[in-house]
Amino acid sequence: MAFLSDTLARVKPSPTIAVTQKAAELKAAGKDVIGLGAGEPDFDTPQNIKDAAKAAIDAGKTKYTAVDGIPELKKAICAKFKRENGLDYTPAQVTVGTGGKQVLYNALVATLNPGDEVIIPAPYWVSYPDMVLLAGGTPVFVEGPMQTGYKITGEQLEAAITPNTKWFIFNSPSNPSGAGYNRAELKELTDVLMRHPHVWVMTDDMYEHLVFGDFEFCTPAQVEPGLYDRTLTCNGVSKAYAMTGWRIGYAAGPQALIKAIGKVQSQSTSNPSSISQWAAVEALNGPQDYIADSRAAFERRRNLVVAMLNEAEGIRCPMPEGAFYVYPSIAGCIGKTSAAGTKITDDEVFATALLEETGVAVVFGAAFGLSPNFRISYATSDEALTEACRRIQDFCAGLN
Ligand SMILES: Cc1ncc(COP(=O)(O)O)c(C=O)c1O
Repeated sequence: MAFLSDTLARVKPSPTIAVTQKAAELKAAGKDVIGLGAGEPDFDTPQNIKDAAKAAIDAGKTKYTAVDGIPELKKAICAKFKRENGLDYTPAQVTVGTGGKQVLYNALVATLNPGDEVIIPAPYWVSYPDMVLLAGGTPVFVEGPMQTGYKITGEQLEAAITPNTKWFIFNSPSNPSGAGYNRAELKELTDVLMRHPHVWVMTDDMYEHLVFGDFEFCTPAQVEPGLYDRTLTCNGVSKAYAMTGWRIGYAAGPQALIKAIGKVQSQSTSNPSSISQWAAVEALNGPQDYIADSRAAFERRRNLVVAMLNEAEGIRCPMPEGAFYVYPSIAGCIGKTSAAGTKITDDEVFATALLEETGVAVVFGAAFGLSPNFRISYATSDEALTEACRRIQDFCAGLN
């Protein structure tokens, strides 16, 4: 009898964590490495949020809390949804977990049965397919190619829906492509979903605040109120307030689903950290200047990286609407040989050769379900980005 479960055998370890580890190893061995793999803001958590956490500790708010969140945080989340998304939720419709990741995972565990299908647009955040597999469901991929800005169309969504479809996972702006759906593009998808009342929507709005230029963020239940009763609107403080280590994510949706998610959490991890919850109350209720400041910095870096990558031979990099990622195509590099003699057969080989020959760590596109591409996280300093892009340009110039 095998010791490890069959379910585990279907799941891959996170490739983004693997790249980060490999870059750290090379760095430890003395190599000059620029890591563009990690998906977290390089800014510090704002001081008012840290102070709120310290105050919570001093006030003894250090015990178990309600499993799915303290009332004060649920109230702050309801106010956020009203203020920023025009969505009305009551605290009983809100759940808080240990990061957005746990909320999404618990929702899948709470709802999927064998045979249930989950539609995931590709390129996708690496965790979606494996979370679906761990929860016993079947991921179904729909490709959004570079030509459509890495977005899928209503027609493609319609074609992927079957009687077994349970969820459609939607992520805009997207990790890894940065693609953001405007209202008309999203309406095209919600119109399709209105014709299929058995399909539920899990929207991952984690990068909501990181949108650039005149792009306006919108979320499915806002664009199509008819979907409100079958939409789980997920969000969190990790990316919006540089709080990745604090581990607070949240979601709102129909009360029965919220209760089911809480049931999974009650028998697995219980409440998210009490101190982090109080910090999140301050993040949502306190001054919001950090958001505009970080958005301006990320927009400047996006423009820098896109311009420099498009000057690299064989690379094409569309301008994404948001998040802090770009997802250039390396179609023009495939089949060539690097200066050190590596034949570039696919994007994984490209990323490995780039790391070994130039010290720039990126994540290969196959990890996100759309190739041949790579992902750069530009959540690092302008100087590091400029140097990394210069090395990428040199690497590409050396291909023949
Ligand atoms: C699209 C997307 N959703 C969810 C998460 C998870 O966020 P959290 O840190 O709140 O678990 C991430 C983190 O990288 C992400 O990129």
